[in-house]
Amino acid sequence: MTTEHVLSTVRVEEDAQYEAGLRPRALDDYIGQDRVRENLTVAITATRKRDEALDHVLLYGPPGLGKTTLAHVIGNELGVPVRSTAGPVLEKPGDLAAILTNLQVREVLFIDEIHRMSPAIEEILYPAMEDYELDIMIGQGPSARSVKVPLQHFTLIGATTRAGLLTSPLRARFGIVHRLDFYTERDLVEIVTRSARILGVPIDAAATGEVARRSRGTPRVANRLLRRVRDYAEVRADGAITVEVAGRALELLEVDEQGFDEADRRLLHAIIDKFGGGPVGLNSLAAAISEEKDAIEDIYEPYLIQAGFLDRTPRGRVATARAYDYFGLPGPERHPRLL
Ligand code: ADE
Repeated sequence: MTTEHVLSTVRVEEDAQYEAGLRPRALDDYIGQDRVRENLTVAITATRKRDEALDHVLLYGPPGLGKTTLAHVIGNELGVPVRSTAGPVLEKPGDLAAILTNLQVREVLFIDEIHRMSPAIEEILYPAMEDYELDIMIGQGPSARSVKVPLQHFTLIGATTRAGLLTSPLRARFGIVHRLDFYTERDLVEIVTRSARILGVPIDAAATGEVARRSRGTPRVANRLLRRVRDYAEVRADGAITVEVAGRALELLEVDEQGFDEADRRLLHAIIDKFGGGPVGLNSLAAAISEEKDAIEDIYEPYLIQAGFLDRTPRGRVATARAYDYFGLPGPERHPRLL
């Protein structure tokens, strides 16, 4: 992985293996997202008491905040296996039909990137979610008929980076809907402490804080930075992560005090330098920095907005005073009408 990707919230193979070992299994071990955790605890306890399948769950929010982790935690708390797939993987209605008919009672089906299912596949999901039934058409033309196949009472957990991309009929079929938010620094300190303990890496409190602070509110990034800082400590120091070692490692990775990397800086700088601070539309911005529009909307923007460096207005993206400060530039002379 290059320095450019060290802050990416997108999961890569190395993360997947690493996350598997660090992933909390029980709701009690899941750090942060207190409101979501409490709501899920209530719902899971109640369904277990009634001996029913848990209502379908939709989890949404920026990548790396633990949607997949939470799906597995839910499965574990329900005491059932979790079958996993993803929107783009399901090509034909038959792919999903095969998965659904194989589900045992109360099992969990996890569909990642659920907003990327084709409409034909979504159609299969509606009666499956609502009536635990598969509606399949057999034959073609005048002799075509629809056959209903009963399904076991299962729980669908869908994950998406943006709930707004879900069609409303699909969204309406989830009884439990939660947004995951960026983690507080305190939560991230706890997560880094826990991960370091599991990995057996010595790290002091100040270094833990440094890694937590620069991980853009995202456990996946925190765990990845910890991994890189550990490498540095082993190669350039005696293996222990002190705040001094962490600082040098993060500097080498070009992760700054804000947790911004080169891509964040390029985006902010383009708005200020090429578009007079904005407002600028997504298309122009994507073209100016040669990034995909989706990557800007899913990955860079949410954190820059929450950190207060970027604003989204009806007329486009605007760099805030804080962004100008960050580059040591005087603020924009902006006409009030544009804000
Ligand atoms: N690892 C990744 N996300 C986590 C979380 N929310 N709690 C504990 N460990 C995690």
